[in-house]
Amino acid sequence: MKHVFYKGDDQSKPTLLLLHGTGGNEHDLVGLGKEIDGAANILSVRGNVLENGMPRFFKRLAEGVFDMEDLMLRTEELKKFLDEAADNYEFDRDNVVAIGYSNGANIAANLLFEYENVLKGAILHHPMVPRRGVELPTFTGAPVFIGAGKNDHMCPATESEELRDLLQGAGAEVELYWHSYGHQLTQDEVQAAKTWYNNNF
Ligand code: MLT
Repeated sequence: MKHVFYKGDDQSKPTLLLLHGTGGNEHDLVGLGKEIDGAANILSVRGNVLENGMPRFFKRLAEGVFDMEDLMLRTEELKKFLDEAADNYEFDRDNVVAIGYSNGANIAANLLFEYENVLKGAILHHPMVPRRGVELPTFTGAPVFIGAGKNDHMCPATESEELRDLLQGAGAEVELYWHSYGHQLTQDEVQAAKTWYNNNF
């Protein structure tokens, strides 16, 4: 997968896996990652799917309606990429924290839904529930931050709460942060995520 890797100054820190939103690329969230932890490794990836020229991490049938078969395939592809990247760049595979926005948050959530111990924790900015009616692996105590908007047309507040409940039900420690806007990522949300990160890692 197309990506950039920046080696951090402190190898005891997690490696931050950055996953952009629809129409983004591997450079978009690098500034955000550095804001969250300036000493951590950064592995920022570009989604392999194109929708009218816009990179995404998996196909969708309509806005908010996922192509489930592609979601599963792409989630597996991303997991394999992550495993290989840990070998190539020699970072600790067991210490990876994902930071995703929108479509990137959705594939990060699905990584958690699919694979045990795939991530140490995750910051999910404006995620949706990736899949329903499936048994989740156990994430005993894994810290997850969800940033949500009370007026998000893409993701109603009840869906953010549903995702929190599903993750918590499987043992994750979830913090759900609300702002009163829509799908956008605000500076206050980033600061809340940073405080949460500093408390957990
Ligand atoms: C998705 O398809 O993942 C969601 O609708 C969010 C987005 O538009 O990227």
